[in-house]
Amino acid sequence: MPFSFLLFYDGGMKQAKVIFGKTLCAVDRRIYGSFLEHMGRAVYDGVFDNETKTCRSDVIRLVRALGTTVVRYPGGNFVSGYRWEDGVGKRRIPRQEQAWGGTEPNTFGTDEFIAWCARCGVEPVMAVNLGTRGEKEAVDLLSYCNGVDDSRRMANGHVSPYGIRLWCLGNEMDGPWQIGHKDAKTYGALASRTARAMKAADPHIEVVACGSSTRSMSTFGSWEREVLASCYDDIDCLSLHGYWGNFTGEDKEFLASSLDLDASISSVERIVREEKSERKSPHSVHISVDEWNVNYHDRMKSASAEEWKEWFLSSHTFEEFYHHFGPAVARMRAPLHGMVAPPILEDRYTLEDALVVGTLLTTLVRHAESVRVACIAQLVNVIAPIMTDRTHAWKQTIFYPFMHMATYGYGTVMDTSFDCPAYASSLYGTVPVLEGVAIENEDGFVLFVTNRSIDEEMLLEMPEECQEGEHIVLTGPLSAVDDEESQLVAPSTERCSRNVRLPSHSWNVLRYPLSTRSRS
Ligand code: AHR
Repeated sequence: MPFSFLLFYDGGMKQAKVIFGKTLCAVDRRIYGSFLEHMGRAVYDGVFDNETKTCRSDVIRLVRALGTTVVRYPGGNFVSGYRWEDGVGKRRIPRQEQAWGGTEPNTFGTDEFIAWCARCGVEPVMAVNLGTRGEKEAVDLLSYCNGVDDSRRMANGHVSPYGIRLWCLGNEMDGPWQIGHKDAKTYGALASRTARAMKAADPHIEVVACGSSTRSMSTFGSWEREVLASCYDDIDCLSLHGYWGNFTGEDKEFLASSLDLDASISSVERIVREEKSERKSPHSVHISVDEWNVNYHDRMKSASAEEWKEWFLSSHTFEEFYHHFGPAVARMRAPLHGMVAPPILEDRYTLEDALVVGTLLTTLVRHAESVRVACIAQLVNVIAPIMTDRTHAWKQTIFYPFMHMATYGYGTVMDTSFDCPAYASSLYGTVPVLEGVAIENEDGFVLFVTNRSIDEEMLLEMPEECQEGEHIVLTGPLSAVDDEESQLVAPSTERCSRNVRLPSHSWNVLRYPLSTRSRS
């Protein structure tokens, strides 16, 4: 990515230029997916009112407005101890939930989820339990959902098959915290058997095998290689997860988090390419970033900011970091044990978090050739763009960049870079202040761009063809949050021409009605 330390001035404003290379590929609509786990208040109190046993229409309205395309369910760590049979039929047995320590009433299960997806206009993505269970139970669930004449589903009143296309083979199986955690060889063999058995039952499905929980796992890379060695030809996607937080209190470092995602995806792309060429396979495996987000505010309440900074900076791997913070978080959550819908991971997001989410989104789309599925984690109440209390539902700051991309971000991705100032980061090296991506479609041309500079606005020069357009901008105090009472952070829209002022620390959408390509 070209960028420049040489700055020139126009009335004191730093200048930058967008540079387009070749057109890459079409964006897969599933890149704007999200994730709903039986965790905290995501399902109960979030999408489902457990008193009235109905889905909340205020939440459905916001999910529709968000524009998310697919929703991964039911976990997450939860799925690795889940018995899906407990959540269907007339008799719903509450159980002690194993991953998060709450009580699972099982009043919301597979059938309720599918009905909810239909009301939201989203495609369901289902994960199977490969922690405490195996290929047999996975095929049972698949048959329940997709079997043309599955008698159990029919007896529960659902005559038509659900036709769920995308299936996740377990969750974060590389993580020592995962129920039924396995080594890569054992998991790879199980993923292969499960994929084959499921595809024999329904050849139309696609499956995602577990990649790494984060790039900083000590097994990152070797896990992917070993899993692919066991199941490359049986799977369609390999997953990658990533969560970021401002653990050091240094905004410039945190605002550069997307460079970590970029490096994670590039590494997995390389490993997949190598495996494909080694086995000379005509088959292609893509990447599913099926959990990503900012995730730290709630966890950080468990210890002092100094402790978190020290843990973060002294840890070489995620396991080491987890070893430090795990016990503190467990102590903080202990009083919530046994509750239905305990409030956990209820991060209240700032404008700064929304900017990081914007840069993560544009990074995912820049990798659209390999990244075919991505799920912001999560959707409601738990590290989520949508929050609820008993009577209200509202948007958090991170709602906006996601909504903008899910609304306007379809079409052909263009190779996009910026000639712009950069700064030095101790974690990520050189960081261009602008991060973004352009997409072309029948409506014209749209550029999504974040100005990471905390104090400097940029005058961005667009290509000559971009003369008149619309500029949507999200900015404000870095620490501002939106809550049920006040929506301090909200986008505004103005007209723009070829040279566009990008305010300091801002998320921007530039829409021009005519295609730059068709005019050149
Ligand atoms: O999204 C919260 C949790 O984070 C998920 O359950 C797990 O997969 C990840 O570690």
